[in-house]
Amino acid sequence: MSLLRSLLILPAFHNLINAEFGLVSQLFQLSGAASVNNAKLSWAFVDGATQYVVQQSIGYGAFQTIATVTGDTYDSYGLTVGSTYNWRVTASNGNAQVDQSSTTSLTPFAPQNQYNTYDNTVPTSLRIKSSLLSNGVYYRYNYETFSNGSFSRFVEQTSSDGYTFSGDKTVLTGDVLCRPSNYDCKLESVSFQPHPSLDQFVMWAHYERSGDYGLGYVAAAHGTPGQNLQFDGAYRPLGDDSRDMTFFVDGENAYLVTSTDTNTNNNIYSLTANWTAVDQRLAQVNVNGHREVPAVIKANNWFYLFTSRAAGWLPSQPQYIAATNMAGPWSNPVNVANTATFSAQSGGVAKLESTQDAMMANQWSNNWPTRGGPTRQLMLPISLAPGGGFASYHFYRTTQYSDDISTQGQGLYGVQTGRILSVGKPSSSNAGTQGIALANDGVQDTPDRFFKPSTVPFWYQIDLQDAHAISQVDLTTNLVQGTETFYRFNVTGSNDGNTWTPLADQSNNVNPGFAASFPTSTERFRYIRINVNQIRNNVNGNEADFTGGVTEVTVYGS
Ligand SMILES: *[C@@H]1O[C@H](CO)[C@@H](O)[C@H](O)[C@H]1NC(C)=O
Ligand SMILES: *[C@@H]1O[C@H](CO)[C@@H](O)[C@H](O)[C@H]1NC(C)=O
Ligand SMILES: *[C@@H]1O[C@H](CO)[C@@H](O)[C@H](O)[C@H]1NC(C)=O
Repeated sequence: MSLLRSLLILPAFHNLINAEFGLVSQLFQLSGAASVNNAKLSWAFVDGATQYVVQQSIGYGAFQTIATVTGDTYDSYGLTVGSTYNWRVTASNGNAQVDQSSTTSLTPFAPQNQYNTYDNTVPTSLRIKSSLLSNGVYYRYNYETFSNGSFSRFVEQTSSDGYTFSGDKTVLTGDVLCRPSNYDCKLESVSFQPHPSLDQFVMWAHYERSGDYGLGYVAAAHGTPGQNLQFDGAYRPLGDDSRDMTFFVDGENAYLVTSTDTNTNNNIYSLTANWTAVDQRLAQVNVNGHREVPAVIKANNWFYLFTSRAAGWLPSQPQYIAATNMAGPWSNPVNVANTATFSAQSGGVAKLESTQDAMMANQWSNNWPTRGGPTRQLMLPISLAPGGGFASYHFYRTTQYSDDISTQGQGLYGVQTGRILSVGKPSSSNAGTQGIALANDGVQDTPDRFFKPSTVPFWYQIDLQDAHAISQVDLTTNLVQGTETFYRFNVTGSNDGNTWTPLADQSNNVNPGFAASFPTSTERFRYIRINVNQIRNNVNGNEADFTGGVTEVTVYGS
């Protein structure tokens, strides 16, 4: 973190003297409300700090303290539509100030337009416009295979609105593309991008034989919109093996980021001015990090490279690194969002017209050793620090988005089922107290911060101190690489601590690392209990109590 902090740029806006650690915010809606008038804040942990004082101001008004917490997140609710809010966080140790964050600002709004709803609990399709636009016509290229899995052809289709495509035209066949691998190949991480000064679309992809991952090639093709694609070859870029990859464009410049050395390191390459060939290797990053699925975004002159840890199909710890130049220097890896990526893997990024970005996390549940539901993606709104260098993203039951809204900051927002009721409240368990305060401290992005139960089965309970209707309970659990476990549990509620009412049944859960429950009872409860019956290894189905750990329980309601 120290390198990252030393790279941070001070926001000119508030003239802070010690604007050093990263703070981000994003607006969200509460279910059933008319306005998008709540803010979710996240910040970087500061070495030597024991608590964080959250301050809020309106317009040019004075900052007022709204909370003092030990974690790295805070929700500010019930903001006024149209007023601009500013936040800053002071890290302290007792009465001594250790550091102050950068400032972040948002203006709550009442959504006027038609949004699409992305449901993060079931498979959902994403409706965003194709980025391939030429002379008022949108293009897309459909990847088709033979029944044996080998690439057969790219089919070009066109559209006038960027969403609805028709007209099939074969523009590149396997006879050409698969020649370097003896007429049997497949492409993964396929990405087409429009070149801004040549009227050409350029494709890059990860290239392999259809049955294995032995080649470690990249492949390129390009073409004039409406014409056939020219194949520009398949090879190891500058001799380096290359598997998961991304093709990232920044104006006239384009880059490849790959997983190399059998997914041990990530390489960053610049492309030639026409983008059809690899120019130079600019940097090797995430060295020995075993990071895959690279995805890059740029905002406020900062680049962010998001990755998942190589863990087969299972959920893993998501991270990012940040830099002001693709050649570096890059920050140290930062753990982000949730230790299990909300039971998914860091994936690609959806970039919206409103300049907002969403992490599209991959839940490969149909490929897990202990299979879950259908494979799907989660749409997780990303927030980025205005001064740069710090990022976060969050899980909501649903996300509202539209790629037709160009107003900055209004094209994407999460809808949260209720207010967070659990952070910092008294907790207890029948399995000891080792680290128990860490299970509801508002921190879910940091490994090794968990309540360690002494036995399994066990229960863990939070006293909300008042009775509330409960809309959601998120359980994040310790994720051990190679022994990714799922918890079989239920959630119960009580008002006296003696009589318990069932709220949610997760006795068939197989999702490693994270499970969200959505109680439907309208009754109000003061005590919420997680009853864990089993901790099982998704890899072999065996019990794996030794990995037990409750990273965070988040209770939402009204
Ligand atoms: C897959 O099928 C195609 C079309 O029939 C054929 O050209 C190709 O060689 C096959 N690949 C393998 C690995 O059998
Ligand atoms: C792209 O540029 C490179 C380097 O200048 C050149 O070797 C290559 O032939 C160009 N490709 C096309 C298709 O023009
Ligand atoms: C919840 O789980 C506990 C522990 O396994 C079990 O004793 C209890 O019967 C379960 N309650 C419900 C409502 O399923």
